[in-house]
Amino acid sequence: KIAVIFGTRPDTIKMAPIIKELERQSEHFKLITIATAQHRQMLDQVLDVFKIKPDYDLNIMKPSQTLATITKNTIEELDIIFEKEKPDLVLVQGDTTTTFVGSLAAFYRQIPVGHIEAGLRTNDKSNPFPEEINRRLTSTITDLHFAPTQTAKEALLVENVNPKNIFVTGNTVIDALSYSVKNDYIFSSDSLNQIFDQDKKIILVTMHRRENLGEPMKSACYAIKNLALSYKDYNIIFPVHLNPKVQDVAQSILGNIPNIFLIEPLDYLDFVNLMSKSYLILTDSGGVQEEGPHFGIPILVLREVTERPEAVEYGTVKLVGLDEHTIFTTADNLLSNDEEYMKMAAAINPYGDGLSAKRTIQIIKNYFQISNIPIVEFDPLAIKEISNHIVLTENLEYENNF
Ligand code: UD1
Ligand code: UDP
Repeated sequence: KIAVIFGTRPDTIKMAPIIKELERQSEHFKLITIATAQHRQMLDQVLDVFKIKPDYDLNIMKPSQTLATITKNTIEELDIIFEKEKPDLVLVQGDTTTTFVGSLAAFYRQIPVGHIEAGLRTNDKSNPFPEEINRRLTSTITDLHFAPTQTAKEALLVENVNPKNIFVTGNTVIDALSYSVKNDYIFSSDSLNQIFDQDKKIILVTMHRRENLGEPMKSACYAIKNLALSYKDYNIIFPVHLNPKVQDVAQSILGNIPNIFLIEPLDYLDFVNLMSKSYLILTDSGGVQEEGPHFGIPILVLREVTERPEAVEYGTVKLVGLDEHTIFTTADNLLSNDEEYMKMAAAINPYGDGLSAKRTIQIIKNYFQISNIPIVEFDPLAIKEISNHIVLTENLEYENNF
């Protein structure tokens, strides 16, 4: 019996392929899905897209909630569910407060924990805040560490995690992408269809990180405003996170500029298909940093440090920080110089091959001795070979949609 915990937009997107794989293998697993609903509308958008109906929905989100209230409101409820359901394994994903509290509640009930997307580190406890500490605390509790990349595995080894319990699986965010982006996709949002009718190149923006709220976010918004005024032949689309502190800054600095479109958060399918058609992305998001390189779209990361160095090393992602001048000049250089742009615009995929959920579930089957198939770790340089291995070993047809 496996309990899967999620609660925000990104952890649910990345858990969806795991949930679907567990459902597909229902002869082996009894699945219990638990949404903390740390997010509400943004969670519901994801649940609709992936057709997930949680067995439990804690519905904890409050406007402008604090970290302490999320923690307090989640832990007791999870404890009651764990006492009743007695799962054999609890799966958590990423580095949200839902992730950490999910692992802590499991630990209190002495239930083994599997951590999806384990081992991401900046080694700076304030950046990102509080995620760097959430994921470190989760790693301390975790029994099975599903590291998306070799770099993540190495970070766990430095922290003396037993190598036998670390598995390089790739990131499930790429599994989700593989079923979601289509060349002939028609947006469900009318506002997006109207923007595309203008036939201009798109710059996509997202921002929400807690450590960027306030002055850093204002500084990034001034750079974006300057870009819009300098490049009137581009449309800038910014689906604004529902956090009132993000909404206020975005509206006050970027509202009423004709080529800036401040829109509601998009559902996942609209968002990733919009991303695939964008020319440049500016973001402080973790997930978007992993998805963008898949399409070869240059990404400027609005953060001081990143726990995702792989695409920076490959050259598709640049860490620009939050200084207004640096953001503007870096974007200006890319938009005005094709050669510079083409240097960044290479489609690479250091984060996954679309088989991460299958690998993860196979590892869990081995852990419970349901099977004993050797796992070939995710290696971005050997994508084809690995895919063949898994598909042949398991004799599985990869499904094309949910
Ligand atoms: C959370 C995660 C962060 C993740 C982000 C993804 C923590 C500490 N932070 O940050 O790691 O990157 O989600 O987006 O776990 N709100 C709504 N409706 C929604 C969602 C949010 O109104 O569907 C508003 C509420 O006022 C809420 C506020 O946004 O109080 C902040 O939400 P919260 O989950 O506390 O933090 P995020 O910044 O979203
Ligand atoms: N996303 C979405 N709609 C949007 C913006 C983002 O569905 O309007 C998706 C995006 O494709 C990615 C995830 O949300 O998979 C990233 O979430 P977010 O940036 O909120 O969190 P982070 O990844 O930074 O934790």
